[in-house]
Amino acid sequence: MLLTLLLLLNGLFIVYLLCFSRTRQHKEPPLDKGLLPWLGHALEFGKDALKFLTRMKEKHGDIFTVRVAGQYVTILLDPNSFDSVLHDTVSLDFRRIRGQVVQKIFGLQVPSNMQTSERKWMEVHFKGVNLIELNSSMNIHLRNLVLNAGKTCGEWQQEGLFSLCYSLLFRAGYLTLFEGSDNAAAVYQEFRNFDDLLTKLARGSLKRDEKKSVDTSQEKLLRFLSSQRGMEPWKRSYQNFLNKEGVAEEMQAKALLLQLWTTQCNAGPAAFWFLGFLLTHPEAMEAVRSEVRGLSLKHPSSTPVFDSALSETLRLTAAVMIRREVVQDKTLVMANGQEYRLRRGDRVCLFPLLGPQMDPQIHPEPQSFKYDRFLNEDRTVKNTFHKNGEQVRYHTLPWGAGRSSCVGKEFAVNAIKQFVFLLLTHLDLELCDPEANLPPVNPSRYGYGMLQPEGDLQVRFRLKRILPEM
Ligand code: HEM
Repeated sequence: MLLTLLLLLNGLFIVYLLCFSRTRQHKEPPLDKGLLPWLGHALEFGKDALKFLTRMKEKHGDIFTVRVAGQYVTILLDPNSFDSVLHDTVSLDFRRIRGQVVQKIFGLQVPSNMQTSERKWMEVHFKGVNLIELNSSMNIHLRNLVLNAGKTCGEWQQEGLFSLCYSLLFRAGYLTLFEGSDNAAAVYQEFRNFDDLLTKLARGSLKRDEKKSVDTSQEKLLRFLSSQRGMEPWKRSYQNFLNKEGVAEEMQAKALLLQLWTTQCNAGPAAFWFLGFLLTHPEAMEAVRSEVRGLSLKHPSSTPVFDSALSETLRLTAAVMIRREVVQDKTLVMANGQEYRLRRGDRVCLFPLLGPQMDPQIHPEPQSFKYDRFLNEDRTVKNTFHKNGEQVRYHTLPWGAGRSSCVGKEFAVNAIKQFVFLLLTHLDLELCDPEANLPPVNPSRYGYGMLQPEGDLQVRFRLKRILPEM
């Protein structure tokens, strides 16, 4: 009986392999299915995507297809060939993938055509006069929070730099966009718990107690966001937009939670890496400080050294994955003229952190932080980079690209700049252990925007005795 069953299973497995197992067809990218049936490389990919994709790049080059949990994903790492993905809106689509992710993490389901109108709404509300108002409100909140953080004048306080940056930028962002109330600190606590577990939630790998914890935080956040008290104009206007689109009340709170995450999850971690790199690279800190000393806080206009150090920070720590679904068979033409066929139903993924951001031929010694990497000799912004003697089309892509790129870029840069300037001008800030290194990256966050550290970097700070004139 047992033998018959085993033979039957064996037979079924062979039929499965013969009928359903995929093989590389003519003109398709190299195929790497991994050893595990169906799962393929899912475990390695989820554990540390950078390490896994670096290994695949060494084996196959700039384009290859891997199997990840039943899905075939073509990874493209040649920045000069990105346009054939980014500009194709006929054979490639990002909306369904985005919709699936958003439903899995936030439980949000909205009409599929809303993504286009929502994008338009965002573009209006993060540009022009609206942006000027948001920047000015953000600057006021940041100033209050930073001065308040150092309020015990003259006395050193100790904290993890990541917690410090994330909490101050989150709270200022929440007060600016969502609600000018005093519960921003409580919202931040729940948000951090939710954000810490978000990658596991997305992968469906939460343990039972983690699931409970993330559910509780999500419920509390939804309750905070449903409050109609003290709404800031941005939130009020977003709710009006949702009403016009006919989104049900329960879904509105979920849409707000998605916006809370999208608008708040990147700036704090970016400020952490920026200050962390400065504190562990004294020559970079001195160069930025000396630029800041020459500026008026009210008009911090031309800041090439700061801009270069920020670009370098984002090159090392911004880790978006730009994903598209192949909705009809496509021939992808690489910059070198080579053609590859992509199958309908597969996915294409660009991972700019690996190519171009960590490509040693574009950025020599790519693991090192060089604050002046994006400066020309005459101290103007350097924005041309070369590979094999040819200029590269995209040398970094921290803000994503194409129709799903970041709409809050200008707002984010203003916020980080203001925050760093305030910290450097109003606080004495130093490492608790002068020999300390930056903590390692949490490898589960590749593909989720800004990276986060595993652990923290302890700093001490106090309000300066003589404050600069404002
Ligand atoms: C250093 C800080 C930031 C970085 C590196 C960053 C990066 C990104 C990236 C890579 C995307 C595309 C995500 C994807 O394709 O899946 C994105 C989307 C977005 N970002 Fe940012 N972001 C930052 C800060 C901000 C801030 C402060 C705001 C607003 C307050 C913001 C608003 C948005 C919005 C609304 C989207 C969604 C756009 C859409 O759905 O079409 N971002 N961001």
